[in-house]
Amino acid sequence: MKRPSVNWIKRYYGSDHYFLWYSQQGYFDKTREEVDFIVSQTVRSGCILDVGCGQGRHCLEFTKRGFEAVGIDTSQKLIRQARQAGKGLPARFILDDARKMSKVKGCFDLAVLLFSSFGLHSHADNYLVIRETYARLKIGGYLFIDMDNVHEIKRYVAKAGGVYTNGDFTERIVFNPATNMVRWNESWRGQVYSGRYQLYTSEQLSRILEGAGLQVKRLFGSFQGEEYSTKSRRLIIVAVKP
Ligand SMILES: C[S@@+](CC[C@H](N)C(=O)[O-])C[C@H]1O[C@@H](n2cnc3c(N)ncnc32)[C@H](O)[C@@H]1O
Repeated sequence: MKRPSVNWIKRYYGSDHYFLWYSQQGYFDKTREEVDFIVSQTVRSGCILDVGCGQGRHCLEFTKRGFEAVGIDTSQKLIRQARQAGKGLPARFILDDARKMSKVKGCFDLAVLLFSSFGLHSHADNYLVIRETYARLKIGGYLFIDMDNVHEIKRYVAKAGGVYTNGDFTERIVFNPATNMVRWNESWRGQVYSGRYQLYTSEQLSRILEGAGLQVKRLFGSFQGEEYSTKSRRLIIVAVKP
C-alpha cells in the first residue's frame, strides 16, 4: 500500500472528498446522542474545548445547551465550514495545531477529542496533544476521548481483509499488530487518499493520560454507555485533572 505523505492530514481533511463523504454518512444525526452521553459523564455546563473539531458539530450542540464552546482544527476548510454553520451562535472556531495550541486561551471545564481525532500523529506528537490539552483544563476539569478500539480493528481486518466498499467508495486498511498502526487508502469518485492512525489499547491510553497528570475515571465501549471490552466498537475514556 502506498505510504501516506507527511502532509496527509492537511490534504485529506482539507479536501472536498472528506467534506462531502463525511456529510453523507449520517454522523450529524448522532451528535445529540453523543453530547447527551458526554454531558452525563462529565459536566452539565461551563467551557468546553473541542480538539480536532472538524465541521464543529459537537461544539455547536454544546453551545445550544449553554456551554461556552471553542473548537480548534488545522483544516482551514473545516474551520470555515464550522464558522458558517455556527453563524449567530457564540461558538468560537480557531485554526490552530493541537500540538501547540498557541492561540487557545482560557481554562476549560471539559476538553473532548472525538471521532478519532486522537492518534493522527507520531507517539511523541500524540503525547503533545494530551499535554497541551491538560494544560488548558481547570483543576477538576474532564478530558473525554473517543477513538477506534484496536481489538475491533484487528478483528475487522482479519475477517474482511481490511476492505470495505459501499457503492463507489472503497477503503483498504492495513493493520500492523506489532505497532497498532493503521494505514488506509480510500477512493471515492476518482479521488484517492491515504492516511495513518495510531491506535492504542485501553492500558496504553490510560498510561499516556496518567503520564500527563490525569486520572482515568471510566472506560466505555460506546456512546450508549456499554462498558468497554475488547469486543467494543469504540474505546471511550473519561479522565479528570486532579
Ligand atoms: C477524524 S476527524 C474528527 C472531526 C470531529 N471531531 C468530528 O467528530 O467530526 C479529525 C480532525 O482532527 C483534525 N486534526 C488533525 N490533526 C490536528 C492537529 N494537530 N490539530 C488540530 N486538529 C487536527 C483534522 O483536521 C480533522 O478535522
